[in-house]
Parts: sequence; structure tokens; C-alpha cells
Amino acid sequence: MSIQFHEPTGVFSLETAHSLYQMKADEAGVLLHLYYGEKTSGNMDYLIRYSDRGFSGNPYEQRDRRGYSLDTLPQEYSGSGVGDYRLPAVQVLSENGSRSVDLRYVDFQIEKGRQALHGLPYIRESADCETLTVTLRDDVIGLEAQLLYHVFPSQDVIVRSVILKNTSKKTLTIGKAASACVDFLYGDFDALHFHGRHCMERQAERLHLPKGATSFGSRRGMSSHHSNPFVILSDRRATEHQGDCYGFMLMYSGNHLEEMEVDQAGSIRIVTGIHPDGFAWRLEPGDTFETPEAILSFSAEGFNGLSNQYHRIIREQVIDPRYRGTKKPVLINSWEAAYFDFDAEKILRFARSAKALGMEMLVLDDGWFGKRDDDNSGLGDWVVNEKKLGCSMKSLSDQIHQIGLKFGLWFEPEMISEDSELFRAHPDWALTDPERKPMLARNQLVLDMSRQDVVDYLVNAMCAVLDHAKIEYVKWDFNRSIANCYSHALPPERQGEVAHRFMMGTYQLLSRLLEKYPDLLIEGCSGGGGRFDAGMLFYCPQIWCSDDTDAIERLEIQRGTSYGYPASAMGAHVSASPNHQTSRMTPLSTRSIVAQSGTFGYELNPERLTEEEKEQIKAQISDYHRFEALIAEGSYYRLSELDENKDYEAWMFVSPDQKEALVNLVMTHIRANGPFPYIRLQGLDPRQVYRLEGTEESYPGSALLYGGYAFGQLRGDYPAIQLHLISEEA
Ligand code: DGJ
Repeated sequence: MSIQFHEPTGVFSLETAHSLYQMKADEAGVLLHLYYGEKTSGNMDYLIRYSDRGFSGNPYEQRDRRGYSLDTLPQEYSGSGVGDYRLPAVQVLSENGSRSVDLRYVDFQIEKGRQALHGLPYIRESADCETLTVTLRDDVIGLEAQLLYHVFPSQDVIVRSVILKNTSKKTLTIGKAASACVDFLYGDFDALHFHGRHCMERQAERLHLPKGATSFGSRRGMSSHHSNPFVILSDRRATEHQGDCYGFMLMYSGNHLEEMEVDQAGSIRIVTGIHPDGFAWRLEPGDTFETPEAILSFSAEGFNGLSNQYHRIIREQVIDPRYRGTKKPVLINSWEAAYFDFDAEKILRFARSAKALGMEMLVLDDGWFGKRDDDNSGLGDWVVNEKKLGCSMKSLSDQIHQIGLKFGLWFEPEMISEDSELFRAHPDWALTDPERKPMLARNQLVLDMSRQDVVDYLVNAMCAVLDHAKIEYVKWDFNRSIANCYSHALPPERQGEVAHRFMMGTYQLLSRLLEKYPDLLIEGCSGGGGRFDAGMLFYCPQIWCSDDTDAIERLEIQRGTSYGYPASAMGAHVSASPNHQTSRMTPLSTRSIVAQSGTFGYELNPERLTEEEKEQIKAQISDYHRFEALIAEGSYYRLSELDENKDYEAWMFVSPDQKEALVNLVMTHIRANGPFPYIRLQGLDPRQVYRLEGTEESYPGSALLYGGYAFGQLRGDYPAIQLHLISEEA
């Protein structure tokens, strides 16, 4: 049993393979957080101390206990306006104007397995998963909160979410409903967060938490390039390989907020969930509201240890099981090869060249539908532009299949161009403020996905294309942030629900398409990696990592992404040199080594390759096939500390049985007469001996782990080395 209730003390224990989480309701019914961290034995309630701090008041019924304050006790789900002045987890407006919420313990339930959420992505049930539901209530306003804890013991993960229910006879308006709140009694924490911008997503930044509040989040209607819904709190001394690290990942693709606060006494609170700005959800009597899930994980083995736990839970319980263990086709994408300038003849020439090189799927990107010769028009009109193509989509797809490739197509379902038939017919289907000119971005508007008629239209329009031609893959793009988040189908008092209803509409559309086309592979995309989150991964097993395809820039992007997400989820392509985003020149071998640590493909004009490059590409594809399982299922290790080394990036994969490893090194700065990169490898079995493929060299695992590998002097522009190690016992 991974969940236990200890009756004499009232302590709830949630145990995973290497972690323990404890809480208890005290005599006042306040649900106190006791502990989260490395496994211990016994109850941790001895850690709670009471002290009478000035200006930290006492609940009325505790007025004789001056040391008892909601402001100083560690809370499991903090209320608001009743004396805990730290970050609230929940905020509710009652009809009488009161904003107070004071939740107290009612009861609990422990069950095997878990229930799915309604209309939201969730962590899929595992054989050993168990659920604890703790019910809290505020009797004054009639609000019930069910705190859900799904424990995945073998994966070292605890998943939290909350169901709020209005048990009163009046309307309650939720202003904030966090998915999780965790209070640490003490700690000297750093926060690792993942900020960025278009073409530079998930840049890892490590900050020492100051006193007071720090927050990260997105108000863009999308999880965003700018701030990923994932934060790691680590011990200040933690490194990639050791030390306590706690992960908080929101499984959501819309507005989100991660807040941390170091309080007057040095305790730390983290609250994560839907961003409260602009959010107001009307809960009528009897209604419930479900929050997205927060995926919590703890590792005492540093950032790499924690990353591998997230990679595992995402591979095993987030990504649709139908894609597990399946090989992903090596694709060629038309975007950087042709942009909007193509017809069927050109695409077929690409297909023939790609097939000759060993590629397996051609993806026709933006520009095949409606009036779409640039990015100013046509979105929403998902009708094949046969005039531009010179044939029907079925004919193009048939010919591509005859060449021997699979076929994929680009869509941007949630958008609408002002210059489109759809907008002319349904201007009210766009999110626009009735009294303002809308904000445009890329000259497009956003469809109101909170409307059922819009979602139904998209299902029909997309199915018409997918039924007409054989299409094995869809690239699902989303190319602007949301503004004017106003639905013409909802009354004024429900406008605060639009952003979340939008996400529910998108998730519904994805689910309905996948139900109808169970073999369809959908790759998520949002101007690159603007919606790279566990919510999208529930539907899309791979996500285009960034519109920046420069291999050297990709090192930082893929490194940042790797803290939370597995390589198998990162769309990565070899593009042309000079690169289209940076004009940097890099060797083809380096570009391939970087792109191989993701779902591999090419994004260049295959007709412009030299004979030598063609031979190199054939070899790269055959290597990728040899390493694909290792990359997709192996343990992943970053081999240098963040920000410490400026000359190279190195990372490796180790197979689950430790019999095989793939080590990658890319030099980002070559120095005259510089030091050799000596790098200690990770994750190998110290008792095994590893042969270095293609050489006469072999090394004991212990030597590579403790003495490291000597890479020697490298020269030239951005050279890269890949080592394939195979155990002699293999
Ligand atoms: C942004 C994507 O990230 C690109 O790969 C490409 O699909 C363009 N959109 C097309 O408009």
C-alpha cells in the first residue's frame, strides 16, 4: 500500500520508491503539511512547532492558543482572507462580496487506481497507482474541496489536483484554484525555471529564492515559449548528479502560475495552477470545477535523477500507450525547404530525393489550403487549394505513398485569418472584444474554442481532409498568443471562464480526432515550442521543440527541455547551413548529432545537397535507426553543470540494462592551446567493461565513471563527437 492512514496520530503517508509525503488534520481540522522528501520511517509530525509571532493572528476558536496561527503553520491547501498571509491556493468571491475561504478537514478515502479527469489531460493509471481523496469544507460559504493525490510508487511521482464543489444555494465565483500547494518548513532553496522567447524556448535559469514571493507564469492563453509550466526547487548545493530536487510540473497548456514564497520564518511555500489573472469561474449551486493536474516528484540524486523520473512518467503514463515502443518515421518537412512556394511537382521531387536518402515520411507544411501564399490569410479555410497544388490532396498523397513515403500535413486549427471565408461567414467565432479593434499577431485572430459549434466545425473540416487522402501525421501549430479573450457566446459574467474553456475545447478537438483516427501521429507545435507541456504530450507524443533549428542554439533549448521532458518528445531536425534563423555555419555531422537526440528529421531542400552530403545523410539515418530505442527509452544524463562550462555541451543516454550508451559532445567554443575536455560519464555499470565502437578501445565502466573519458583536442567550427559504448557482456 503506497497510501496509509495512521489512525492514532491521524497522519497520512504517501510513499513512493524513494520518497515520502505526509500530512495530517490537526485538532482544529486544519490540514497540515508535514513532510516531503527522502524516505524516512515514522511520523514526521514532531517537526511542527508552535510559536507566537507578532502580527500572525489566531483563529477565533483558538484564541486561547496564541502560538496557533494559520500564518505560521504549514498548510496543505491554503485558504484566503482568514489569517494566512502567505500565498493563497484558493480564492472565492461569495455573493455577499466576502472573499474569505477557510477550509477544514471532513474525511478521506483511499482507493486503488484512479478516475480520469473530465475534459482535461491526466496521468494515465498504472498497475500500482493509488488515490487518496481528502475532503475539506468551508461551512460558511458552502465550498467543498476534494484534494486528490494519485500516487505512482514505482515512478516516484505524486499527482495532485483539486475538485471544488459549491454545496451552497448561492453562486460562488472562483478567482483562483491552484492544483497544488506545498509548504516546506525550512530549506535553502534554489528555483530552476525555464524562461525564453520565440526561437529560444526553455532556457534554464537557476535562482536563489529570496525572501518574499517569486513567480513565473504565462498570461498568453498558452503555456508559452516564455515560461514553461515546470519549476524545480533544489537544495542550494544540489548538482546535476546529487542533492535534493523537487519538481512541480503542471499538466496544462493554457495560462499558468508558479509562485514561491519564503516567509518571515524561513519556510517556503510553492503554489502552482491556472493563472488567476483574468480567471473567474462561476460555480452555481451543485456545480464542480476540476483543476488540471500537477505532477510532483522528488529525487535526492540531483537534477539528472529528477529528470529521469519525469522522463519515465511522461513516457509511461502521459504519452498515449499506442505510441510506446513504436518507431517514429524519419521525416522531411517542407517548411524551410520551400516555405509557401510549392506545388505538387516540387513536393514530389522532394519526396523522391528524400526516399533515396532513406527518409520515411514527407510533411507538407503551411500553405496547402484556402488562400495561403503567405501568412496573412486563409486560416480556418481547411479546403485543399488544388489550383496551387496542381492536383487533389488524394492524388498528391497517393503519389507520395507510391514513392514509398508516409505523408503528413500541417494544420493550425485554433486560428482564423480576418481574410478567410470562415471569418466572413462567422466573425463572431473569433475571440474579439465587442468594443475594441482586436490585437493581431501574424495578421491572424484566435478562434473561440470555448464554443461547441467551433469545435464541431473543426472536427468536420479536418476530417474532410483526413478522410479524403491518406494522411498518417498532422503537425498541429499555434502561432500567436491570445488577447481579447472574449467569447461572443458567453454572458458577461462568464467571460472569466473563456481562457480555460478555450483549452478544454482544444483538448476535446484533439481527443475526438484521435478517437476517429487511432493511428494518426500528431506532432504538437506552437511557433516551435510555445506549447511544450505535459498537457499537449497527452495527445501528441512529440512536439516541435523550437523554430530555431540552429544546432548550436538547439543545444541550450534541448538541454533546458530535457530537465522535464524526454528526448523522445522533442521534435528536432537537421536544417541547412547557413542556418535560416542565425546564418551560422555548422558541420552536417554536428547538426545530425544534435537532432538525433530528439524525434529525428530533416528540414532542408534535398535537391541542394552535394553527393558527399547525401552519403553522410544516408549514414546518419541508419545510425539513428540503430540508436533510436536507446535514445527513446534510455536514461538521460547532462554531463556538465548549468552555466559552469562555456566550451562544450555534453550529454549521454544509457540503455535500461546498462549494456549500451551513447555519449554526445559538441564544442561550442574552440580555444587555441585550450584544455582537453575530460568528462566523467554517468549511469554506466562500474562492473562492466565497455567497448568503444569503431575503435580498439575498451574501458571499465568504473574508469569512465570516476576517471572520465579523454576527448582530446578538437578543432574547427563546432565539431562534435559521438561515442557508442557497448558492454563486452552484451
Ligand atoms: C511555425 C512552425 O513552428 C514552423 O515550423 C512552420 O510550421 C510555420 N509555423 C508555418 O507557418
